[in-house]
Amino acid sequence: MLLPSFIVGSALALATTAAGSPCSPPNVVHKDIVIVGGGASGVYAAVRLREDFGKSIALIEKREILGGHVDSFTDPETGGNIEFGVQAFLDVGNATGFFDRLGVARRPFAAERLNSTYIDFETGKVLNFTLPPMADQLAAMNKFLQVIEPWERLLQPGYFDFPDPDEIPGDLLLPFGEFVTKHGIENAVPRIYSISGLGLGNITNEITMYVLQAFGGPNARVVVGRGRSFEPASGRNQDLYDAAARLLGSDVHYSSTIVDSHRTDSKVRVTVQDANTKINTTIIAKRLLVAIEPSRGRNIQPLDLDEDELNLFNKFRYTSRFAGVIDSKALAVNKSYVNLPANAAPNNYLSYPEVPFNARFDYLGTGHYFRVGVMGNHAVRDDNAKQLVQQSYETLLDAGDLVPGETDRNITWKAFSAHGPMYARVSREDIQAGFYKRLYEIQGRRSTWWTGAAWSAHIQTVLWKYDDVLIPKMLEGLE
Ligand SMILES: Cc1cc2nc3c(=O)[nH]c(=O)nc-3n(C[C@H](O)[C@H](O)[C@H](O)COP(=O)(O)OP(=O)(O)OC[C@H]3O[C@@H](n4cnc5c(N)ncnc54)[C@H](O)[C@@H]3O)c2cc1C
Ligand SMILES: *[C@@H]1O[C@H](CO)[C@@H](O)[C@H](O)[C@H]1NC(C)=O
Ligand SMILES: *[C@@H]1O[C@H](CO)[C@@H](O)[C@H](O)[C@H]1NC(C)=O
Ligand SMILES: *[C@@H]1O[C@H](CO)[C@@H](O)[C@H](O)[C@H]1NC(C)=O
Ligand SMILES: *[C@@H]1O[C@H](CO)[C@@H](O)[C@H](O)[C@H]1NC(C)=O
Ligand SMILES: *[C@@H]1O[C@H](CO)[C@@H](O)[C@H](O)[C@H]1NC(C)=O
Ligand SMILES: *[C@@H]1O[C@H](CO)[C@@H](O)[C@H](O)[C@H]1NC(C)=O
Ligand SMILES: *[C@@H]1O[C@H](CO)[C@@H](O)[C@H](O)[C@H]1NC(C)=O
Repeated sequence: MLLPSFIVGSALALATTAAGSPCSPPNVVHKDIVIVGGGASGVYAAVRLREDFGKSIALIEKREILGGHVDSFTDPETGGNIEFGVQAFLDVGNATGFFDRLGVARRPFAAERLNSTYIDFETGKVLNFTLPPMADQLAAMNKFLQVIEPWERLLQPGYFDFPDPDEIPGDLLLPFGEFVTKHGIENAVPRIYSISGLGLGNITNEITMYVLQAFGGPNARVVVGRGRSFEPASGRNQDLYDAAARLLGSDVHYSSTIVDSHRTDSKVRVTVQDANTKINTTIIAKRLLVAIEPSRGRNIQPLDLDEDELNLFNKFRYTSRFAGVIDSKALAVNKSYVNLPANAAPNNYLSYPEVPFNARFDYLGTGHYFRVGVMGNHAVRDDNAKQLVQQSYETLLDAGDLVPGETDRNITWKAFSAHGPMYARVSREDIQAGFYKRLYEIQGRRSTWWTGAAWSAHIQTVLWKYDDVLIPKMLEGLE
């Protein structure tokens, strides 16, 4: 169903060259696929659709660079590189092939081993907390894998085969703390928490299947030596997405967001605005692929959502995650200061802070630079997150936990990044009422397809694998 406004709008725009002035019609571009969001899932889809499936594409990204949660920071003083967002790429699906085709050399990822001090950041009290012996951690992680591996295909790379409500394995819906106790895998939890579970706040209360989407089989297999993880050989994760940016060239619209859209069963029309030039461009495409979090409010509002879509998306709740690099001589080189509640000592592996909180100060291997990570809810903004870090820093300073003689109360921020909203999840009741079936039913409706972490796991390379499954479905019926 081709609306007359399409024809009129495009004919007019082609006849004029003076785009951008308030009264002239926008530029019009025709593409097979328009993709919104140049992070993990959007970039991978853009490359594959254009290069492997021969489709013309436009990729819309609101920032000046591609890569989403990747945060590579170059220290202006030393020229050294620091990663304070995404750390590692797990060897899932054809992840190595993606690096190879972009000409980005890989090396195995090795996490820094830091000497950790456990402190209750609310009070500054140093805790006599001890990790389980490594052998016990590994045994528990193996047990964890044994339990979850039969269910992995229900969750990853996406919810394509998620069971009907009465067939959902009960364990997947348990609070994670109960799941852990039931299977006696307490000794695996500190590692799960520190690697990625912390994005969910107090993970013991979280529904088990969401913990598995943040830390699942691929992560656990790396821990026990059955899987690999890697990073660019340069050590700079942004190099991967910069290489994709070079390949995609002018098919990417940077600093751009959708300001208006119209979606029909035969095509979509989206108008994007460049935040710098204010110039509007209208893209008419056969398919729309949405690769941003479907969070409520301004972000996806211009997507011309219908009632079904709004009802589904309004059920999601999110964690806001912030990351930053600070410079402080009061924090000791080579150290990690980890925030735990007092009752975690001496060996309670099921007690973690409640959001909002600053999870840690981790030495970054150069100068006096430390990585911080704040977990928040929807109410936490950039300023609150920075304040939380400042507060926890002062608490540690006043309690005498930091380097003796260093009294500087001010944190110097070298870099800061707001990653929220992320970890989209719904209630147990909604899952049991068939949420994921209904969510996947909107795939393809009005020429629109959906990718990204809300539809899959919160792992870069699992999202790439999800795209591999989605793309052929999305191209069905396209000549
Ligand atoms: C601190 C941190 C560390 C992490 N570490 C790892 C790790 O080590 N390994 C791993 O595998 N995963 C890691 N993750 C998780 C992983 O990065 C995410 O799951 C993944 O990036 C999600 O991909 P996505 O495509 O859904 O969204 P994103 O990667 O967030 O991409 C969304 C993109 O859309 C853009 N955008 C948003 N709104 C709009 C709009 N309205 N218009 C246009 N563009 C828009 C954004 O700027 C962004 O570029 C980490 C996440 C965080 C926050
Ligand atoms: C761009 O599009 C938006 C939404 O349709 C509109 O409000 C705005 O006036 C347009 N701007 C220009 C410069 O045409
Ligand atoms: C993996 O990616 C590479 C590079 O794009 C490609 O040549 C290869 O065919 C892919 N392998 C599979 C199994 O898809
Ligand atoms: C870690 O630091 C503490 C306190 O500074 C010190 O006592 C301990 O020996 C260190 N452990 C290692 C393994 O370096
Ligand atoms: C710390 O706790 C361990 C038990 O986990 C105990 O053996 C040790 O004595 C405690 N140390 C201090 C200083 O309290
Ligand atoms: C920090 O660790 C590095 C590498 O192990 C070591 O060379 C250096 O001496 C340590 N610095 C301090 C202050 O402990
Ligand atoms: C985290 O959740 C568990 C389980 O409900 C609870 O026992 C614990 O007290 C919580 N942690 C904090 C810091 O509140
Ligand atoms: C801390 O920083 C604030 C804001 O930059 C400044 O006003 C204040 O004087 C600084 N305090 C110290 C002790 O340096």
